[in-house]
Amino acid sequence: MSHPSKNSLQSKPHGDDLTHAIAKSLYILPTDEQERKRLEVQHEVLRNAFGGRIVFAPIELHAGDNILDSGAGSATWLLDCYNANKDATFRGIDLKTDIFPELDDIQKQHIQLGTGNVLQLPNGWTSNFQLVNQRLLIAALSKENWNTAVEEIFRVLAPGGWVQLVEASHCVAGEATQRHFSMLQDLFVKRGLLLNCVEHIPNILKSAGFDKITTQRLEISLGGGDDEDEMKAKARESFIGVYKGMQTPVVRMGIRTEGEFIELVEDLEMEWESNAQSKVIFYAFTAQKPTVSV
Ligand SMILES: C[S@@+](CC[C@H](N)C(=O)[O-])C[C@H]1O[C@@H](n2cnc3c(N)ncnc32)[C@H](O)[C@@H]1O
Repeated sequence: MSHPSKNSLQSKPHGDDLTHAIAKSLYILPTDEQERKRLEVQHEVLRNAFGGRIVFAPIELHAGDNILDSGAGSATWLLDCYNANKDATFRGIDLKTDIFPELDDIQKQHIQLGTGNVLQLPNGWTSNFQLVNQRLLIAALSKENWNTAVEEIFRVLAPGGWVQLVEASHCVAGEATQRHFSMLQDLFVKRGLLLNCVEHIPNILKSAGFDKITTQRLEISLGGGDDEDEMKAKARESFIGVYKGMQTPVVRMGIRTEGEFIELVEDLEMEWESNAQSKVIFYAFTAQKPTVSV
């Protein structure tokens, strides 16, 4: 799992890898150096929005506990969690391993990163994990996929183990944001993805057999002037980055021309910056696998 060299990525246009080289993957975002950097910033923004917490399931991690980051991306959440729990054991899987970090020898004793599919976790992982984190798979899963992914998480959790899911809902700002949302709806429907997954997740968790399901709504401010640690600018940068990353599928699927797409994203960015009330809504869910199967 080597870290990509900057040179090898410079000549590759961001977002050009639509097929993702994985059969049947619906995922619409790129996996490259630019995306790795965006995911780092996004992690900082989300951690800040959670008041500095990255484990919000009501669990205390102990030495020897097994933790899975399912769809880990650049494994930023996983590494952050490892740094606070160095005696636990971590697994991170993703369809693509290109942006996984290079681990040092000590980290390798506690962390394993590898190729994997959230829709088909290894058979040998049944009842293995105390905590599973799955964050921001919205641009990858259909309704049916969501059922499967949550059932797989349920299977690999030990009885009494916890899942935590974080997903984006929508942005609130003005007219450009509404125009952009309607384009997103078009894209997600045409691709078979579930844009309003946050509305379905509680029922999906329940159907899979989870208990103690909680839902938390988070508002992340995007607009207006400076804040001390530039969190609003970082939030704008990372979430505009998501939308810029959708250019290739939007244009290839005939939803907008390249020019229309670029103009819309520019309008969106200006609207977020100029409107002090602009925000993005996120949801965080936690749920427990019952201790005794019913
Ligand atoms: C938006 S990124 C989020 C990454 C990470 N969870 C985070 O919050 O920083 C979504 C990730 O899900 C991965 N992904 C998409 N479909 C997947 C699947 N079926 N199985 C495993 N990973 C998948 C993508 O390759 C990408 O790395």
